[in-house]
Amino acid sequence: MPDEFHLIVGGEGKLGTHLSETLRMQGHEFAATTRHKQPSDQRHHIYCDLNDGDTWENLPEASVAYICAGITSVEHCEIEPEETYAINVGQTVRLVEFLAEKDCRSVLISTNRVFDGNSEMPKTSTATSPTTEYGRQKVDVENRVLALPGGSVIRLSKVLFSDDQLISGWLTALAAGHEIKAATDMYQSPVSADLAVSALLSIGSEKEGGLFQLSATSDMSMLDIAGYVASSTDCKTSLINAISRIDLAGLERTGLHPDHLFPRHTTLDSSELSSEFGIMSPTVAESLQTLDGLRAIPGK
Ligand SMILES: NC(=O)c1ccc[n+]([C@@H]2O[C@H](COP(=O)([O-])OP(=O)(O)OC[C@H]3O[C@@H](n4cnc5c(N)ncnc54)[C@H](OP(=O)(O)O)[C@@H]3O)[C@@H](O)[C@H]2O)c1
Repeated sequence: MPDEFHLIVGGEGKLGTHLSETLRMQGHEFAATTRHKQPSDQRHHIYCDLNDGDTWENLPEASVAYICAGITSVEHCEIEPEETYAINVGQTVRLVEFLAEKDCRSVLISTNRVFDGNSEMPKTSTATSPTTEYGRQKVDVENRVLALPGGSVIRLSKVLFSDDQLISGWLTALAAGHEIKAATDMYQSPVSADLAVSALLSIGSEKEGGLFQLSATSDMSMLDIAGYVASSTDCKTSLINAISRIDLAGLERTGLHPDHLFPRHTTLDSSELSSEFGIMSPTVAESLQTLDGLRAIPGK
């Protein structure tokens, strides 16, 4: 086995794809799991289903696995708690234990939603307080992974990908002179996909394991994010209409309180990443500037 062979579980999801591209560009040895029987990348993709333990036998020996697979919709977890718990906790823990038996340590990707979002910058030592099924599942799976030798968890808030659907849609509409809607009472503290992957790889190189967190340094409302996007692309901010989160789809179906589906605070204290790996939290503006076509606005 090569010195460091990386395995990405969920290699065709958003984070798994970005991690695969980064490892490929950096020339690392890796394999990435897919649920497509005819994979797009024959060299690196391996068929694997969390629900089917027989497919795990196909996995190559690896020194570190990044667990990017799972049901990631807060709404879906709320509506189908048993089905999603079985995958996000039951099967994920079984796979991580299966890998640990082969001396492969795992890095689990978790979320700010292990907290209730009532206060800014919770620390890794702050007691968890999930208010959604998704958050409760992440707490359970985190605890099981951290109990294993070399097990690591990174809690991420929003990760911004270059093809972010919402922002790309806004940019297209604004450029065409169309109005857009953005919520005044919905917040994000995004980090770029590059930064999230850099943190993952740093943690993956850490053999002791541990709990880490990463978000931007503050929350920004979606209305202010839309304003930043418009200003930094020379579009008219007058095209932005302020709405409330209660006007957005999804809330009624889940039966969740608006504060639980869209928490007021999404930031995370990232001290461990900065002290152990020198990875600093960006400002929201710095994260937004990583998107194609967005330039820095002086003073922001
Ligand atoms: N993106 C973010 O902003 C963010 C923020 C915080 C935490 N996270 C966490 O980061 C992780 C990755 O997120 P993401 O945004 O990359 O999610 P994503 O795009 O929804 O990808 C999820 C992946 O899981 C795979 N998957 C689902 N069920 C599976 C099963 N039964 N067996 C095998 N694979 C299965 C999917 O495969 P298919 O493509 O075949 O469906 C997909 O590749 C998740 O744990 C998420 O909770 C993400």
